[in-house]
Amino acid sequence: MAMKSIILITVLVVVLVATQAQALIAPTIPLFNITGNVSCSVNGSIVINGTNPIPPFRNALVQLLCGDPGIVRGIAITNRMGTFTIVLSPLIVDLSTLLSSCRIVVVTPLSRCNATLPSTGNLQAPLRFVGNTIIGLLNITNLAPGPFQLTIRA
Ligand SMILES: *[C@@H]1O[C@H](CO)[C@@H](O)[C@H](O)[C@H]1NC(C)=O
Ligand SMILES: *[C@@H]1O[C@H](CO)[C@@H](O)[C@H](O)[C@H]1NC(C)=O
Ligand SMILES: *[C@@H]1O[C@H](CO)[C@@H](O)[C@H](O)[C@H]1NC(C)=O
Ligand SMILES: *[C@@H]1O[C@H](CO)[C@@H](O)[C@H](O)[C@H]1NC(C)=O
Ligand SMILES: *[C@@H]1O[C@H](CO)[C@@H](O)[C@H](O)[C@H]1NC(C)=O
Ligand SMILES: *[C@@H]1O[C@H](CO)[C@@H](O)[C@H](O)[C@H]1NC(C)=O
Repeated sequence: MAMKSIILITVLVVVLVATQAQALIAPTIPLFNITGNVSCSVNGSIVINGTNPIPPFRNALVQLLCGDPGIVRGIAITNRMGTFTIVLSPLIVDLSTLLSSCRIVVVTPLSRCNATLPSTGNLQAPLRFVGNTIIGLLNITNLAPGPFQLTIRA
């Protein structure tokens, strides 16, 4: 009986050590985190001295559009601070594609946040690389939109 327990404990310890070792050598899981702020202006992301004098564009539908005319690879809604976040796997789109042929498109027209602003066209921005963060097993590549510009497409 005692022998059985010792064997059982030994097996458990071996299993535990093995899983720990595996966790240490396991490859990290890559993930993209695209986050940015949208402001209610034709150049939607102006920040002066770290503060933005232009109100945030709240509840705006934001798309990650890749290629031309574009395939939607992710969507988000801006919060009350005008901030959006799109998290996606590199299995959906890789980094070089994100940086070269994807863009952030604010689908909701600017006139929805300020009636004096245009009701046609969309704020659009390219993506830029910000850096990598490791959180546990996640290897997160952070990306942010470049400057937004009102873009009118035929
Ligand atoms: C993505 O970035 C935003 C802003 O830095 C952060 O709040 C959020 O937790 C991040 N998400 C992930 C999955 O890393
Ligand atoms: C968005 O704005 C918040 C403050 O409202 C700021 O903390 C954050 O860094 C900004 N995010 C980006 C990606 O510029
Ligand atoms: C952004 O647009 C406003 C008008 O909406 C203009 O006054 C300002 O100069 C522009 N800023 C930049 C950096 O283009
Ligand atoms: C912003 O920066 C300018 C100089 O670059 C300074 O004169 C002004 O006081 C600053 N404003 C705030 C709110 O910090
Ligand atoms: C709406 O946009 C106009 C023109 O850009 C600007 O003068 C005005 O201050 C804006 N209103 C608000 C509430 O942001
Ligand atoms: C995280 O991913 C980047 C590429 O996106 C890679 O260069 C780096 O080695 C990775 N870090 C870890 C700890 O896996």
